[in-house]
Amino acid sequence: MRFLIIDDSPYDRELIIRKLRDEFRDTTFVEISRQADFDEAMAQGDFDIVLVDYGLKWTTGLDMLKKLRARFPDLPVVMVTDTGNEEIAAEGMKAGLSDYVLKKHLQRLPFAVKESLEKARLRKERKGLEEQVRQTQKMESLGLLVGGIAHDFNNLLTGITGYAQLGLSLVNQGDPLYEHLNHIRETAKRATTMTRQLLAFSRQQTFEPSDINLNVMIAHLLDFLSKILPEDIDLEFAPDPALKSVTADAIQIEQVVMNLCINARDAMPNGGKILIKTQNVLLDERGAGAYAGVQPGLYVLLTIADTGVGMDEQVRERMFEPFFTTKEPGTGTGLGLSMVHGIIAQHNGFLAVDSEMGKGTTFNIYFPAVDSVAVQAETEEVHAIQGGKETILVVEDDPDVRELMEAVLREYGYTVIMANDGEEGLTLFEQHAASIALVIADLMMPKMKGRELYEHIRRLSPTVRFLFVSGYRANQLGQDFVLEKGVEFLEKPFDLDKLAATIRKVLV
Ligand SMILES: Nc1ncnc2c1ncn2[C@@H]1O[C@H](COP(=O)(O)OP(=O)(O)OP(=O)(O)O)[C@@H](O)[C@H]1O
Ligand SMILES: [Mg+2]
Repeated sequence: MRFLIIDDSPYDRELIIRKLRDEFRDTTFVEISRQADFDEAMAQGDFDIVLVDYGLKWTTGLDMLKKLRARFPDLPVVMVTDTGNEEIAAEGMKAGLSDYVLKKHLQRLPFAVKESLEKARLRKERKGLEEQVRQTQKMESLGLLVGGIAHDFNNLLTGITGYAQLGLSLVNQGDPLYEHLNHIRETAKRATTMTRQLLAFSRQQTFEPSDINLNVMIAHLLDFLSKILPEDIDLEFAPDPALKSVTADAIQIEQVVMNLCINARDAMPNGGKILIKTQNVLLDERGAGAYAGVQPGLYVLLTIADTGVGMDEQVRERMFEPFFTTKEPGTGTGLGLSMVHGIIAQHNGFLAVDSEMGKGTTFNIYFPAVDSVAVQAETEEVHAIQGGKETILVVEDDPDVRELMEAVLREYGYTVIMANDGEEGLTLFEQHAASIALVIADLMMPKMKGRELYEHIRRLSPTVRFLFVSGYRANQLGQDFVLEKGVEFLEKPFDLDKLAATIRKVLV
């Protein structure tokens, strides 16, 4: 720690330091007895507490206090004097003095200092928490807004992509229309990627968690990362060999690491170093208390630090907002950190960012640790696409998506029954129960939602298969439900091939 002692008398300064030295080990005492030294100390600014006399040759302690307060509102200041009186003490307290100690009662000083430091610490912690709560609320409301928009866009994009694909299947490659349709499909693909990022930000991305070891996952990524980093950037990985597992979606965590590393790269145009580090961290009551809404417990801490340009206060405030970027138009969309934020929240984790202009940036990401052996995530099998002759009931409220599905399913050979909403779906199912092999339903529909429809139909027929499609994440269904046999989930917007393959998968 660094203490600033402002007093004209070298003898008094010595007494004060002697009183404090035993209690506050590893402390530097900076002694000030001239205006010029004070100005220099003010410019430097990094001390923990100030002890100031009242009667000074060049000014008064109250004046000093006001100057200090103006520049460092949270810095504790204790007046240590023998020329003061009650009036001065009262005026000082009003101006934000932390404590007032008479030189003839110097034995009280260590206690007064300790208390002032503790009060300042608590004030700082409270301020930090308030700031975090503000941030969380901002992110919540942005998430709702963005999630709603992204959801509607998904429906539109399903239509655009699907019709472009249908169109493409009807024209030859040489046809001038082919290029146009292909452009539509490619552009829609880019829009789909953006929509996915927005859904990730609003925590509505499909979430497929398993117990994974971050060390293994990152080790796999290193090769790729070193390829995208220029030579003048060092990449260091410091894994904790005893690292606990986390319940996480490996693909999403990869996105987090990639995004943070690319940001770090962009922040170091003249080279530097990226450190990726993992460790187990036990947060006790006090440790967890420093973060809003965090429970004490065992966490896996993933640190990604760079030695780049750092961020100023304005950028730090806004970095997680979707579309906030300081990069040239066309180089950054400003969705990277939004996605990182959403993904970590979806994992019940939290993050703390430390960044200073010119020094670099450190992202500390905490995931709740699990006490189990990590298993490798299954890789998805690729199915050859085929159609079928079964009867499928499609329940979808969006007319564009509905028409598209009908056209595609018929093309694949299926018999299709169409319903506009859950209620109509249920009625049609009752009429055709014997022939229907599969129900494809949107999750979010007016009147009767997908899940409700599912429960009604299950009572009528325990064997009929289900495929849910939605722009929302699968785990909204409830974990137990997703895992049920004969039920599949497809995220919008989907590829028509993917749709066909998923139908076959669920119909086996
Ligand atoms: N490691 C870092 N060092 C310095 N500034 C950073 C760092 N990471 C993020 N920032 C700042 O935060 C802003 C937002 O980052 P974010 O990843 O969301 O968007 P982007 O990188 O600008 O664009 P995108 O990731 O979509 O390509 C950046 O433009 C940059 O100003
Ligand atoms: Mg980025």
